[in-house]
Amino acid sequence: MANISIVGTGYVGLVSGAMFADLGHRVICCDNNQAKIETLMQGKVPIFEEGLSDIIVSTTKNNLLSFTTDIEKAIVAADIIFIAVGTPPLSDGNADLSYVYSVAGTIGEVIDRFKIIVDKSTVPIGTSKEVTSIIEQKQKERGVDIPFEVVSNPEFLREGTGVYDFSHPDRIVIGCRTQRAFDIMCDVYQSFANTGVPVVKVLPETAEMIKYASNSFLAVKIAYINEIAYLCEKTGADVSEVAYAMGLDQRIAPAFLQPGPGYGGSCFPKDTLALCNIAKQNSTSVSIIEAAVASNETQKLRVVEKIKKALGDLQGKTIAILGVTFKPETDDMRAAPSLTIIPKLVEAGATLQIFDPQGMDNAQAEFLDISNFMEYCSDEYAACKNADAIVLLTHWPQFKELNYPLILGTMRGNYFFDLRNMFSQDIFSNFGFRYYCVGKK
Ligand code: UGA
Repeated sequence: MANISIVGTGYVGLVSGAMFADLGHRVICCDNNQAKIETLMQGKVPIFEEGLSDIIVSTTKNNLLSFTTDIEKAIVAADIIFIAVGTPPLSDGNADLSYVYSVAGTIGEVIDRFKIIVDKSTVPIGTSKEVTSIIEQKQKERGVDIPFEVVSNPEFLREGTGVYDFSHPDRIVIGCRTQRAFDIMCDVYQSFANTGVPVVKVLPETAEMIKYASNSFLAVKIAYINEIAYLCEKTGADVSEVAYAMGLDQRIAPAFLQPGPGYGGSCFPKDTLALCNIAKQNSTSVSIIEAAVASNETQKLRVVEKIKKALGDLQGKTIAILGVTFKPETDDMRAAPSLTIIPKLVEAGATLQIFDPQGMDNAQAEFLDISNFMEYCSDEYAACKNADAIVLLTHWPQFKELNYPLILGTMRGNYFFDLRNMFSQDIFSNFGFRYYCVGKK
């Protein structure tokens, strides 16, 4: 079993660290955020991720997982160091690599024996070369020349289902230059490799591209079905039936054909923009991805227009918002469609009553400047009380179980905007709602 250190305890680092420990490796998770590490040391998990807490508790108990803020100690202790720090978007759309490079610098300053350094963060093509030269430069300054190899091993975990995704990978991509590095990485993932999961051996540049190309393809797929949905509304076709029949074609596949208020999260919006920039820097363009980015912005505005068109003047209207996170099973609101849609509704004069099962704290922090127009409610029923309309932005499963006839009885109006097509039109019309969804007349 390997000695692994993971630098960065965000969604990727923490889930990967806990899951590697669960496979039997000795793992140190390291972060410069003291408060976060203290929380983890107390057995508490700072993010909402199904099943993660139990794994952290059990692996910590077995002494397979530990936490530290001491990055140098973490680097020295490990044979394999995963860099899983954030690569947030800069204002120009490029990924901010300063955290990745800072970790690389520290590795160069303290490396004491052969190590594998793994880029787990989503990083532009060529970053592994840059990380290599930073470590080489630091070693030169120290007057040492300790061998190491930088490997690119992108993650394909989805937030909210990260634990499941880690244990059920579709593929493991290892971007490396030597057989030695590949063999070491195969040992890390041995339990999966033995079950027949494809392990794809490529150069680091190719691995980096696989990550961007995969995320951007999925973003294009969503933008595509959202465009088709809009056309369905205009023509009388039903997008659910269209998506179902399209998905039966094995070349298309059914996943990621669910129309909605636009894709969000910390990955698709950031990675699509970064790939557009990478293309520009290489004197070309990825026009399909540029179109998806623009289409996704338009989709959020279409939602606002749909609500305005149905409700008329929003001045003095009260709207219940069900769900603010970018998708269910997470508390994450990064680049969530709600961040565009909610301020636009307020700007048009509406007052909002909000409920989200996990996103309330983040919502309060995000909407500080419009807090006078927002009421944060204790549950769905409180959010809908006296409202003129319900806008369902995130398809939390619990929203399916609500007593909607009861809710309607407490409302002032009867509009229901189901922006995730969670329900059937007939049922809601029978209840007495004026029901609007996506991609159906
Ligand atoms: C995404 C990828 O799915 C992961 O494979 C990848 O590892 C991850 O990014 C990453 O780069 O770290 P994630 O951002 O957690 O995962 O969320 P997804 O489940 O992919 O959803 C992204 C957005 O697309 C959400 O806003 C979701 O509501 C939306 N979506 C998804 C749709 O509107 N329609 C769909 O059919 C699917």
